[in-house]
Amino acid sequence: MFERARRALAGGVASAYQSREPWPIYLERGVGSKVWDVDGAERIDFHNGFGSMPQGHAHPAITRAVTERMELGTHFAAPTEDAVVVAEELQRRWGIPRWRFVNSGSEATMDAIRIARAHTGRDTIVKIFGSYHGHHDYVMVSIGVPYHRIGNRESYESLPYGGGIPQSVAELTIPVPFNDAGAMERRIETLFEEGRPPACVIMEPAMMNLGVILPEPGYLEAVRELTKRLGVLLIFDEVKTGLCIAAGGAVERFGVEPDMVTLAKALGGGLPTGAIGGTEEAFETVEAGSVYQVGTYNGNPLAMAAARASLTEVLTPEAYELIEAREERLLRGCQDVIERHNLPGYAVGLGAKGCVTFSPEPVVDYESFKANQDGELADLAWLYNMNRGIYMTPGREEEWTLSVAHSEEDCDAFVAAFDELAADLTA
Ligand SMILES: Cc1ncc(COP(=O)(O)O)c(C=O)c1O
Repeated sequence: MFERARRALAGGVASAYQSREPWPIYLERGVGSKVWDVDGAERIDFHNGFGSMPQGHAHPAITRAVTERMELGTHFAAPTEDAVVVAEELQRRWGIPRWRFVNSGSEATMDAIRIARAHTGRDTIVKIFGSYHGHHDYVMVSIGVPYHRIGNRESYESLPYGGGIPQSVAELTIPVPFNDAGAMERRIETLFEEGRPPACVIMEPAMMNLGVILPEPGYLEAVRELTKRLGVLLIFDEVKTGLCIAAGGAVERFGVEPDMVTLAKALGGGLPTGAIGGTEEAFETVEAGSVYQVGTYNGNPLAMAAARASLTEVLTPEAYELIEAREERLLRGCQDVIERHNLPGYAVGLGAKGCVTFSPEPVVDYESFKANQDGELADLAWLYNMNRGIYMTPGREEEWTLSVAHSEEDCDAFVAAFDELAADLTA
């Protein structure tokens, strides 16, 4: 399939994040917690579409909703009732009053930043070094770079991530370390002194693109306090955490209220969609029409039907209880393997998300990730998994996503594959 695909599809894949040595994995179908590749191999899916599928594959409620919608017409570029229901449900879960829809996480963060810029009349933005917020120019800055290029912790470099990103655009994006409210405050104060105060801080409340890094106690509260005091909008990018770590995402889990949130991935139940939520003040420019928050496919009826079924029938309170129980089993199982084999690392996670971080030291930010993560071990673990029926997210920065379809046996199979790796490594 790779040989055939690469003759038409650049690199044989639809997105660079789908390529992988020695070749991409081509999937044919998925049901519940299982996926089958084009060679017919069955695996338990812990990748789950980069965290888009806590509902599991081909969930009957979502399949029914989308099938019914198909017959009623699939696109009008006018809102359907489903869009209203989804917005109401997000409003209820997040306690955030205003919502708009987009088609991906990148669109969500791009539009949220534009809204913040219009609201404040400022151009500069602040992000966390090493954090991924999508593939548009504003945020493709200071993501994966060699350790020595990070720069000074108090004034990290604004480094374009890959080609085609103008340095002048990258300069508008200022990275700061995670879990360090003091460093963020000092950098923002410097930006004020330099005459380029930031419009917003965009951040993942728990980092999910360096494995999983949890916010330390008090960190998010301190960020909320300092951004409010300095008049900077706070955007929680919940593209990964939202709907995966609690019904109301990180806002519910940590109890800290940002000015805006961005959602995507799990929202669409497998269809491409995303959302931006915000306070009434943050959405003033959108409602007044001075910021064009637009898109032909925004609120697409098929995606909204899937999202409605997902929110009202699948990701219920009972679903979160089940996911939490599976997560605990998986984390405990992995931690037990680490301890029995004396591996340098630890299991960490929240809700449906988690990983084994191969590091002798706790990873709290990009610097400690770069300095300590054993990337080769992470790659080897992926290969071990793939060859033992565990379909795991590729990449040293990724984590697993559980779904309502994962059984205890599925979690035990993951732990068993990890145990085999640990035993071979220490033999
Ligand atoms: C935190 C976060 N924000 C934004 C995005 C971009 O989402 P998308 O790939 O749907 O554009 C991602 C994608 O991985 C993400 O992890």
